[in-house]
Amino acid sequence: MKSSITQGVKMLATGSAVPDLCINNELISNIVDTSDEWIFNRTGIKERRILSGSTSLIDIAALASIQALDKTNINALDLDLIILATSTPNDLFGSASQLQAKIGASRAIAFDITAACSGFLIAMVTAAQFIQNGSYNNVLVVGADVLSKWTDWSDRRTCILFGDGAGAAILQSCSLLENNILGFNLNTNGQKFDQLNIQYEYSKKEDLFSTGIKGNFKYITMNGKEVYKFAVSKVPQSIQCCLSSLNLSVKQINWLLLHQANERILNAVASRLMIPSEKVISNLSKYGNTSAASIPLALNEAIEDSRIQSGDLVVMSGFGAGLTWGTLILRWNA
Ligand code: UT7
Repeated sequence: MKSSITQGVKMLATGSAVPDLCINNELISNIVDTSDEWIFNRTGIKERRILSGSTSLIDIAALASIQALDKTNINALDLDLIILATSTPNDLFGSASQLQAKIGASRAIAFDITAACSGFLIAMVTAAQFIQNGSYNNVLVVGADVLSKWTDWSDRRTCILFGDGAGAAILQSCSLLENNILGFNLNTNGQKFDQLNIQYEYSKKEDLFSTGIKGNFKYITMNGKEVYKFAVSKVPQSIQCCLSSLNLSVKQINWLLLHQANERILNAVASRLMIPSEKVISNLSKYGNTSAASIPLALNEAIEDSRIQSGDLVVMSGFGAGLTWGTLILRWNA
């Protein structure tokens, strides 16, 4: 079969933004029956940022996007495509167009991808396809979520976990030799959709046409133990599969950047792959689980503080609702 890959993909820059309001574990223990000790020991989380006042998902997504753009020699008008990975849109029809307007990227086509905590990776892979087949040159990929809006603050099993944030990456077409998005592996098991979701609840009330389809979305519900077991067993397999498709070995990994859900998951996945803890990127203590934002937020911080150096092999894996999980391998080149 003829390959449709005509171009390489280069990640030019990253950016991130979080809301100002910081909620620490002590504050949460005033609301539900929990403690800083329990939360930190079981999750690694100390505090999280929560959107407040009139600040919106679009505001933090735009801040992250502009920060990333400012590190490149292109501007918003050069963007051909914007993909916003979010499961907490401002508008059920999609929020990417609001982001396009806010940053003044009037030439770009913009759409949302809904895939919870795997959203950023799936958006990156989608963006890469458009670049590799020659359709677009400059693409903005954003992962942004405000799960605080969908959190039941009386449920101690979930309200301790989530925070809000946004992360962005600018991708550009390049020669095949310069390509630095090396490969990916994506998976879904829809049989287990009900292990982690924000369900739509049908109302029994009569509506105009007696269809019974009126209703509302409920809060986040999660079977924590099952999702934990799923992540620890499936993520290492996805990483191994992606590495072997590229003839790479675990030893060649410089950085393991997993979706920031739980410090124990990060450690368990690293230990299954025999990756030393110094190679594991974690910022859970500061932000908790920011869903689609967690990978680009941690990536941006590790690039900004020079932990990730030019030439480093970065293995990123996302996992969560769907259930969906996957891996993307990046050779970072500044
Ligand atoms: O982003 C998508 C991916 N998400 C994830 O990967 C999350 C995966 N799951 C987890 O991270 C963990 O399952 C949790 C952090 C959610 C929970 O940790 P756990 O070690 O699995 O706790 P558990 O649910 O088994 O609960 C253990 C005990 C229970 O008490 P009993 O039944 O043993 O008496 C809970 O009621 O801890 C209790 N508990 C709490 N206690 C204090 C549950 N939540 C809390 C709490 N504070 N916040």
